[in-house]
Amino acid sequence: MTRKILVLPGDGIGPEITAQASRVLAACQARGLDVEVEEAPVGGTAYDLHGTPLPDSTLDRARAADAVLLGAVGGPQWDAIEDISKRPEKGLLGLRKELGLFGNLRPALLYPQLAEASSLKPELVAGLDIMIVRELTGGIYFGQPRGIEERDGQRVGFNTYIYSEAEIERIGRVAFEMAQKRGKKLCSVDKANVLEVTMLWREVMERLAPEYPDVELTHMYVDNAAMQLVREPKQFDVVVTGNMFGDILSDAAAMLTGSIGMLPSASLNESGQGMYEPCHGSAPDIAGQGLANPLATILSVAMMLRYSLGENALAERIEAAVGKVLDDGLRTADIAPQGGPYVSTVEMGDAVLAALEAS
Ligand code: NAD
Ligand code: IPM
Ligand code: MN
Repeated sequence: MTRKILVLPGDGIGPEITAQASRVLAACQARGLDVEVEEAPVGGTAYDLHGTPLPDSTLDRARAADAVLLGAVGGPQWDAIEDISKRPEKGLLGLRKELGLFGNLRPALLYPQLAEASSLKPELVAGLDIMIVRELTGGIYFGQPRGIEERDGQRVGFNTYIYSEAEIERIGRVAFEMAQKRGKKLCSVDKANVLEVTMLWREVMERLAPEYPDVELTHMYVDNAAMQLVREPKQFDVVVTGNMFGDILSDAAAMLTGSIGMLPSASLNESGQGMYEPCHGSAPDIAGQGLANPLATILSVAMMLRYSLGENALAERIEAAVGKVLDDGLRTADIAPQGGPYVSTVEMGDAVLAALEAS
């Protein structure tokens, strides 16, 4: 049966990087992958066209798709939109919420060829392979009440950090199962020394642990986790945490792998439908200059093949093709040695395609 993929290029470097990922998808089609690919607007681009960052037509097509590939959203030209529900980021958050994509997988994997590009010493990151499991549809991102209002003669801003036991349990199960398939170590990151919501988080993780006797569960406060990630990152196998802590820790982990331009992600719902996107943003500082690294987006296609389309062999082929271009010394500016030569976004796409075709 033909499966449907919806590509949402978005803003800034989004269209540049999804263009390269779409070429990789097309190469997979040429090799027999039976998919139908279409595109739709999201984010600031959709706001400019339709007055909303998530048009109904885009949401409907996302619902009907087996998998969604998203570039990035946001940019300074939309930061002044006063109605926060119309900001580009709401397009992305709306998709996550509406599709129920609560389970966000962010693999911080060091390609050995990039050990020198890491911000840490090569020996600290050699062999690094961490899976961050981030809860994506709850926590402080979505808690009510929220807002900015007048109180006692001044404006106050407030958000609510809330998780139900059911929400904690379902992300906990994703993380325990992931740990079972990997190194059997799970570190749950919280702030249970201060915040009741994460006291409950810790309690639920503990309650689940006996069901996964082969997994060693540990707990760490988020401030320490941030420190440990840059001190001795290889101590981690799977990390599970809430929405905001996961956002922050995954950007930090990205840098260990050489660049945020290398980190893909999968966001899954209960029925295995997924949205796939690089962890980075729309990089307005380099947009339109051919400087963006497309590999995080191309690797997100590999995650899509693995987690939504059941095409593991093809996923591995793409990952191997990325390894091959890195072996050959190709680097975009973000992963090139200081002052060293680098290739453009399109040239990196060309190289991955050539490696894929040769495989
Ligand atoms: P960012 O991730 O866009 O950029 C941070 C830095 O990393 C910049 O210097 C950028 O040039 C660099 N960078 C990011 N991706 C890169 C790539 N593929 N290749 C090379 N360099 C890359 O974060 P920011 O600057 O804080 O945010 C910019 C905009 O993106 C904001 O509007 C923000 O809301 C949005 N954003 C969107 C997403 C998303 O769509 N998933 C994620 C994060 C930020
Ligand atoms: C990410 C981004 C988003 C988030 C923003 C753009 C809403 O930073 O995907 O990591 O905070 O989740
Ligand atoms: Mn982020």
